[in-house]
Parts: sequence; C-alpha cells; structure tokens
Amino acid sequence: MSVLFPKWMNAFPTIAALAGVGGLTTAVAGFWYYATPKFWEVGYMPAQPGAGFNHQIHAGRLGMDCRYCHSNVERSAEANIPSASVCFGCHAEARLAKLAQSEVHRERTDFVREAYAGDASIPWTRVHKLPDYVRNFPHDVHVSAGVSCFSCHGQILSMPVVFQSQSISMSWCLDCHRSVRERPEEVLVPRDKVTNLVWVEEHLKQARQDPGKHRPAARLILESLRDAPPENCGACHY
Ligand code: HEC
Ligand code: HEC
Ligand code: HEC
Ligand code: HEC
Ligand code: HEC
Repeated sequence: MSVLFPKWMNAFPTIAALAGVGGLTTAVAGFWYYATPKFWEVGYMPAQPGAGFNHQIHAGRLGMDCRYCHSNVERSAEANIPSASVCFGCHAEARLAKLAQSEVHRERTDFVREAYAGDASIPWTRVHKLPDYVRNFPHDVHVSAGVSCFSCHGQILSMPVVFQSQSISMSWCLDCHRSVRERPEEVLVPRDKVTNLVWVEEHLKQARQDPGKHRPAARLILESLRDAPPENCGACHY
C-alpha cells in the first residue's frame, strides 16, 4: 500500500468539486457528475453498423484468437480494430456458398463486401474510451505482464455485441495496481494464456477460491515484471 497515494485520494476530484463550490445545488450536481458516470458506463453497448460484429460467433464458436484481428495488442499501446479486408478474407462473394448457404447470411454480411469494394472502413462505434487527459494506457505492457483481456473487458467470448463490463474509472485502475502486489493470483496469468478467455475465467475463479495454491506461481510472474504498476499521477496523466 502506497503512503504517497493513500486510498482516500480516489475521492480527490469529488472533494475538490465540493470544496470549490458553494450551495447545495452545485454540490449535488458535482456529486452526480463525478459519482454516477462510473456506474452508468458499465453496460454501455452502442449500436454498431450493418449487422455488427459478433464475438460470440467468431472468437467463441469459431475459436479465432483475439490477435487474428487485434493484431497490435501485444506490440503497441493501442489495440487496433481490424480493417474490412480482414473480414473480406472470409466474407468475399466467392466464399459465400462455403460459409453459409442461407440468403439471410448473404444479406447480413453485405455491409462487409460493400465497405471493401468502396475501399472504406466500417464505421465501428467505440465502446471503451479514456478521456484525453489520461495520457498513457499501454495495452502491450499489460498484456505482456500477464494481465488478460478478460480482467478488463470481461467474457468477450459470450458477447454477441461488445459492452463495457468494467467501470474504467481511475479507482478501477489504481485498485488493480495496488492489489496486484498483495494478491497477484487474482490478476496475473501465464503470458501464453492471456487471450484464452475460457481458461482465464476458470483459472481466476479457482485462484480466488484457493489463493494459497495459486499465489506462488503468480508471485513469480509479478517478480519478473520490469516495474511495479505505477501509482504516481504522472504515469497516467500529463
Ligand atoms: C474476426 C475479428 C475479431 C476477433 C477474432 C476478435 N475481435 Fe474484438 N473486435 C472486432 C471488431 C470488428 C470490433 C469492433 C466492433 C465492435 O466493437 O463490436 C471489435 C471490438 C472489440 C472490443 C471493443 C473495442 C472498443 O470499441 O472499445 C474489445 C474489447 C474486443 N474486440 C476484444 C476482443 C477479444 C478479447 C478478442 C479475443 C477473445 C477479440 N476481440 C477477438 C474484431 C475481432
Ligand atoms: C476466419 C473467417 C472469418 C473472418 C476473418 C470473419 N468472419 Fe464473419 N463469419 C465467419 C463465419 C464462418 C460465419 C458464419 C457463422 C455461422 O453463422 O455459422 C460468419 C458470420 C458473420 C456474420 C453473420 C452473423 C450473424 O449475426 O448473422 C457477420 C455479420 C460477420 N460474420 C461479420 C464479420 C466481420 C465484420 C468481420 C471482420 C471484422 C468478420 N466477419 C470476419 C467467418 C469469418
Ligand atoms: C488492463 C486493462 C486492459 C487489458 C488487459 C486489455 N485492455 Fe483493451 N482496453 C482497455 C482500455 C482502458 C481501453 C480504452 C483505451 C483508450 O481509450 O485509449 C481499451 C480499448 C481496447 C480496444 C479498442 C481500441 C480502439 O482503438 O478502438 C480494443 C479492440 C481492445 N481494448 C482489445 C483488447 C484485447 C484483445 C485485449 C487482450 C489481448 C485487451 N484489450 C486487454 C483496457 C484493457
Ligand atoms: C487488472 C489489473 C490492472 C488494471 C485494471 C490496470 N492495470 Fe495498469 N498495470 C497493471 C500491471 C500488472 C502493470 C505492471 C506491468 C509491468 O510493469 O510490466 C501495469 C502497468 C501500468 C503502467 C506502466 C507502464 C510502463 O510502461 O511501465 C501504466 C501507465 C498503467 N498500468 C496504466 C493503467 C491505466 C491508465 C489503467 C486504467 C485505465 C490501468 N493501468 C489498469 C495492471 C492493471
Ligand atoms: C494508473 C493510472 C492513474 C494514475 C496513477 C492516476 N490517475 Fe487520475 N485518472 C486516471 C483515469 C483512467 C481517469 C479517468 C477516469 C474516468 O474516465 O472516469 C482519471 C481521472 C482523473 C481526474 C478527473 C476526475 C475523475 O475522477 O474522473 C483527476 C482530477 C485525476 N485523475 C487526478 C489524479 C491525481 C491527482 C493523481 C495522482 C495523485 C492521479 N490522477 C493518478 C488514471 C490515473
């Protein structure tokens, strides 16, 4: 537990908002502004273009690895969304008969072929988005440390439409950064398992039930990290 950055500091913005203003109305407004979006954002599931993209079918039933499409997630800060050409590789006109015979399937995947033919990208709506004043969220560092997509995005394999399953608030980031030192088994998995979300869900459940058994292996992963997860403001803010 850090002395420099105690837990009550999570309430800092709220306290600042309350201290800086007079009058009950503004105080209540301040409270709502800072306190409600966290809960409100969990479950956020924007509509997607065309028939959308179904992770339950592609990553779940068809078993495609996350990195087939989110190919930069291990080597850059940003996790990329695949271009229409990645989809077209399977959804080209010529492969329709092989993929699925039904007319419904053709119609539901027309938007993929139209985007590809028009050299356009499919206008996906972003689900997870940090505010601009958060300078640094590196996917590569987290993923190669052994933090699974599951810990931050939930069970994507069972989502026909992706939604936000975690609060993505500042205290959410910091709670993990702090607790991972004491209870690494609740977060860290072997690096080669990071995208195996079925395995990870079951493993993390067992680790919570029997921490003593799983802690030594997780502690080894923790000790192999370059740095401890940061809690200083500058690590995440300008
Ligand atoms: C066949 C390609 C493909 C595969 C495989 C795939 N995804 Fe995706 N993913 C997409 C596309 C396209 C989107 C954008 C549309 C959407 O949000 O539904 C997306 C969106 C997402 C988002 C939401 C991004 C945002 O806007 O915030 C997350 C999180 C995600 N994928 C995680 C995963 C994980 C975890 C896996 C592996 C279990 C995976 N994906 C496998 C294509 C893929
Ligand atoms: C590796 C091959 C492959 C890739 C790559 C792929 N798909 Fe698919 N997709 C399939 C298969 C197979 C089905 C049929 C599944 C079924 O219905 O049995 C399918 C089904 C679909 C459907 C119809 C599902 C429904 O709800 O009716 C849509 C829409 C779709 N894909 C969109 C996409 C998009 C968008 C991408 C790119 C981000 C993509 N696919 C990439 C193989 C692929
Ligand atoms: C430690 C938490 C964490 C982990 C682990 C994590 N993500 Fe993310 N992911 C986030 C956050 C936070 C954002 C929003 C980033 C932003 O706004 O800059 C995000 C955004 C995304 C996006 C949207 C990117 C865009 O530009 O639209 C995709 C896709 C994604 N993640 C996929 C994955 C996949 C696949 C994995 C596992 C290999 C993964 N993430 C692991 C927290 C995480
Ligand atoms: C589920 C656990 C978890 C969550 C949630 C999480 N992190 Fe981390 N984060 C880690 C771990 C573990 C490390 C240490 C990685 C290392 O040192 O190799 C880390 C390291 C970092 C680093 C240091 C990167 C570097 O180059 O050393 C930054 C910056 C960071 N996280 C930002 C964030 C932000 C911003 C969020 C919230 C949006 C977040 N993290 C959420 C586990 C998490
Ligand atoms: C591990 C990464 C991380 C660290 C370290 C961190 N922050 Fe944040 N901070 C965030 C994220 C992510 C958000 C955006 C939260 C949201 O969108 O709700 C945020 C939001 C904020 C906000 C806006 C109000 C709010 O809560 O939404 C303030 C003010 C702030 N941080 C101040 C600080 C100060 C001061 C420190 C150092 C004592 C600090 N932060 C350290 C990640 C971090």
